[in-house]
Amino acid sequence: MTKGTDSSIAVSADSLEKTVSARDGSLTILSGLSLQIKSGESVAIIGTSGSGKSTLLGILAGLDLPTAGEVHLSGKRIDHLDEDGRARVRADHTGFVFQSFHLLPNLTALENVMLSLELAGVSDARDRSTRLLERVGLSERLTHYPKQLSGGEQQRVAIARAFAGQPDILFADEPTGNLDEKTGDKIVDLLFEVNREQSTTLVLVTHDPALAKRCDRALRLVSGKLVEEVKDVAEVSQ
Ligand SMILES: Nc1ncnc2c1ncn2[C@@H]1O[C@H](COP(=O)(O)OP(=O)(O)OP(=O)(O)O)[C@@H](O)[C@H]1O
Ligand SMILES: [Mg+2]
Repeated sequence: MTKGTDSSIAVSADSLEKTVSARDGSLTILSGLSLQIKSGESVAIIGTSGSGKSTLLGILAGLDLPTAGEVHLSGKRIDHLDEDGRARVRADHTGFVFQSFHLLPNLTALENVMLSLELAGVSDARDRSTRLLERVGLSERLTHYPKQLSGGEQQRVAIARAFAGQPDILFADEPTGNLDEKTGDKIVDLLFEVNREQSTTLVLVTHDPALAKRCDRALRLVSGKLVEEVKDVAEVSQ
């Protein structure tokens, strides 16, 4: 079967290149990178700061385009679609938690979570969004605006928003980066609960070794390519 058309594959990338122009010439961020992520799998992408993790996640989710190579999401090729085409595939299949939240400043926490559901004509948008915010521990913050929320609270709104459309694939860039350990653990439990309950595919960028370990696989970004992390001997022998 052709890569990307196999329904058991949620995300596939083939020979990705990403080069951007920098002040002193061009900078290659990704080079000859390929990967396949099965439907329902949880995968951590790890690597040093500046190695290209956010760039890769943005390309896999159809937010950004590669310089060369192919990307398929849920069997659909997305790298040759225009912005509108990619926006449709994103709305139908993905949720995204940004490293820097990207909440809309003039909307309350509840309105931020509800927005895409309302645009999609979902009738119980308010109830569903309220439940999700309760689940991330923010029932007392529904009417707060982003600037009235702490970094960790904004992160939790962003996570509730990403779940709202019940995505097949959830991309999250450092989902616990702004959370204390206890809140981080709760959010991670929630990510994996949804992964189990709804067979959501999880693709996470993280610096947190404990989170990477909870994923089915961890891939390390090195010199523009992914290298599979070998689980340590103690875990393999369990
Ligand atoms: N549009 C761009 N133009 C120029 N340079 C860019 C652009 N996008 C990313 N870069 C550079 O590419 C490299 C990879 O960036 P990226 O944000 O993907 O790294 P990262 O692995 O997510 O880092 P961090 O862990 O700090 O979030 C960085 O050196 C960054 O400065
Ligand atoms: Mg990053």
